[in-house]
Amino acid sequence: MENQSEAQLQERLGRQLILFPLPLQGHISPMLQLANILYSKGFSITIVHTKFNSPNPTNYPHFTFYPIFDGLSESEYSPNDIISLLSLLNQNCIVPFQEALAQLLADKSGDPIACLISDAILHFTSAVAKSFNLPRIVLRTGGVSSFLAFAAFPLLLEKGYIPTQDGRAEEPVVELPPLRVKDLPVIKTSNPEKFYELLASMIQETKNSSGLIWNSFEELEESALTKLRQDFPIPIFPVGPFHKHFTVSSSSLIADDTSSISWLNEQSPNSVIYVGFGSIAAIEEKEFIEIAWGLVNSKLPFLWVVRPGLVRGAEWIEPLPEGFLEMLNGRGHIVKWAPQLEVLAHPAVGAFWTHNGWNSTIESICEGVPMICMPCFTDQLVNARYVSHVWKVGVQLENGLDRVNIEQAIKKIMVEKEGEEIRKQVLNLKEKINLCLELGGSSYNSVKSMVNYIASF
Ligand code: UDX
Repeated sequence: MENQSEAQLQERLGRQLILFPLPLQGHISPMLQLANILYSKGFSITIVHTKFNSPNPTNYPHFTFYPIFDGLSESEYSPNDIISLLSLLNQNCIVPFQEALAQLLADKSGDPIACLISDAILHFTSAVAKSFNLPRIVLRTGGVSSFLAFAAFPLLLEKGYIPTQDGRAEEPVVELPPLRVKDLPVIKTSNPEKFYELLASMIQETKNSSGLIWNSFEELEESALTKLRQDFPIPIFPVGPFHKHFTVSSSSLIADDTSSISWLNEQSPNSVIYVGFGSIAAIEEKEFIEIAWGLVNSKLPFLWVVRPGLVRGAEWIEPLPEGFLEMLNGRGHIVKWAPQLEVLAHPAVGAFWTHNGWNSTIESICEGVPMICMPCFTDQLVNARYVSHVWKVGVQLENGLDRVNIEQAIKKIMVEKEGEEIRKQVLNLKEKINLCLELGGSSYNSVKSMVNYIASF
């Protein structure tokens, strides 16, 4: 298959792919980016999506969008209990997805369908695709290293690393170096059994799939990919970073505040700390206030995304002390949602204080921006450990979220010698990304293998 000639390949293109993203920002964006890569290689694209968090089709006129019923009530839409939401999606969408596939497969007006590409978390799609004899390829939107930690959950449970017990946080997990107990990808939930079941199904149905696509690249996760290839003997395609293969259209579910860029335009090079915690993470009011004072006390300019819902129990920034914004005197800018890719690429940005969602992590590395890591749950905890201790492109905010620690971490990365080393390291990694995307580079080659493989169905 890998040796298929270009001429043969061309004959086989013009096939249709059905893509089904998990309806959360951090999953929709990479799926749409992958769709763009595949479209550029000649496939026609149909995006099956739920009503909840449905993507905006106007940015993608070249794709067909196929909405399905998700059966979620307004109260279930809230991502406050993310595990219940994911479990519900895996139950509620079975019949609507079956009906959608039946209709799409019966429709002879479009290109013949080669395969389904579904988010790994939508594990139910495996049985549905099988019932139609349709090959299913999985997109895992997170990193390989965190996926291996998820795959190790049965072992971690057996050995008593999880559920996490008091006093063991700093203990190394010898089976998964360099992780410590506190880096294991857990989440606070009232129903941990449901979380473990979800992970087990995700892992099992990934193993049962016809292939696995990653928004990562060989040079970043080489040893994790080697282990993955041993444990998951299916075709593996690390074709990331997706968004660097082409010019990206916005896939934001919230409107970008473009004042972020005009404000950055007024700042000096490498002077600004960009603060953003993705689309789901939430913090307590007390933590929010500490962040605000830590930023003020650092005396450096900052651009801070406070997404509505970030602060538990608050609409937006009302918990800030009275007169806080006036006191900043233009040194800080707060928005509800920023065009993050543009922000990270802006010369004024000197560091990114992030929750280490995989997209934010990879986007920061792509732009050579060092990170301050404040992981909140699941894969973010593993990503942060790799950022600070393996790739050495950031520092972790380890000793609690208080204003003194925050100020110290900001100064470490923005002005001290350690920050300079970290900056050099992230620029090295950025260079590796540029190379992996070029003709003959690892991601370039992986895209080629992926396209050949999919076209062979
Ligand atoms: C979720 C999980 O929390 C994360 O752990 C997992 O790795 C992916 O799914 P999320 O928390 O939203 O993701 O974080 P992240 O992966 O960083 O994705 C957020 C996306 O939203 C990024 O692509 C980022 O560029 C974008 N974003 C975020 C904006 O465009 N503007 C913003 O203001 C904030």
